Amino acid sequence: MKFLFISAADKAIAWREAILGKFPDATFDIWPDEVVDKASYDYAIVWRPPVGELKTYLNLKGILSLGAGIDGILMDTELPDDIPVVRLVDRCLTEGMSEYVLYWVIHYHRRMGVYLNWTANGTWKQMRQTDTRDKKVGFLGIGELGSDAAGKAAALGFDVAGWSRTEKKIDGITSFYGADGLVPFLNRTEILIILLPLTDSTKGIINKDTLAALPEGASIINCARGAHVVDEDLIAALDSGHINAATLDVFHVEPLPEDHPYWTHPKVTVTPHVASLTVPSSAADWMEENIKLIEAGKPPLNTVDVKKGY
Ligand code: NAP
Ligand code: GLV
Repeated sequence: MKFLFISAADKAIAWREAILGKFPDATFDIWPDEVVDKASYDYAIVWRPPVGELKTYLNLKGILSLGAGIDGILMDTELPDDIPVVRLVDRCLTEGMSEYVLYWVIHYHRRMGVYLNWTANGTWKQMRQTDTRDKKVGFLGIGELGSDAAGKAAALGFDVAGWSRTEKKIDGITSFYGADGLVPFLNRTEILIILLPLTDSTKGIINKDTLAALPEGASIINCARGAHVVDEDLIAALDSGHINAATLDVFHVEPLPEDHPYWTHPKVTVTPHVASLTVPSSAADWMEENIKLIEAGKPPLNTVDVKKGY
């Protein structure tokens, strides 16, 4: 079996080890330097393949994403349409995302940013503590990642809701869905987490109108994609005081350009797209399972609906 790897070179060694650990007789070639005989590859393991590249490997049986989000793969408008594109759903990725989300939800709920500023300046001062059960946390996107984090937030006692395309029935989580559900969902959400895929319908979803629908003093955690947010609208809402603070892990351009106002904005915390990174040793289990399904002539798990965009 032959694997083609297209991603940042510094990630390749760990992936080679993980994949060859599962398929010891396989060959794992790193694009572009190691590619020989394009027709010989069975599986492409990719992050953001160059447009038009994958269609030149004529015998691929599957395109396996290195991440949960496949917007970077779907930017290739010339993808072969007769093989599955499979996105990553992995225990470590899911648990890592829930850790990141809960860290910031608790940070905002317990107002740790304010306390850390005060104590850094030698100020001893207390604020009234509020009941966790009254704190309304909302997930825009309640799929693989959102539902795990939402369940864990609910287990901590937060009042949790999710917004999705279709109705969800998850114990302890209020479901809002579809275009009609968006504003009521936002109206009640004091800590908003964005965990949507980036598609034509979700691009720019955080804009002046949706920000205005959040209650005064809401906080935002974006750990999906930068293009969900209209940056100027978020900065205006932070400056006006309507939005309390934002933690942003993802940006329109990454790395975030040096002169971007987010770097120095007092109400913005920037993290460098690390909300949850793929752990090859764990994600290789999922790759192995899907490859076995494809080899057995069965449909793989988590196949992307290319038309839907996720
Ligand atoms: P998923 O399982 O596909 O879940 C997507 C959720 O979004 C579903 O609840 C879906 O609703 C909802 N949704 C999609 N389009 C919608 C629309 N137009 N209106 C309302 N709801 C919509 O995806 P996931 O695995 O949870 O991943 C979510 C995203 O997280 C990824 O796409 C990626 O961009 C991002 N991510 C970021 C990092 C990081 O480190 N920052 C790491 C991993 C992933 P339905 O279920 O009703 O279809
Ligand atoms: C990371 O951003 C991912 O989509 O897995």
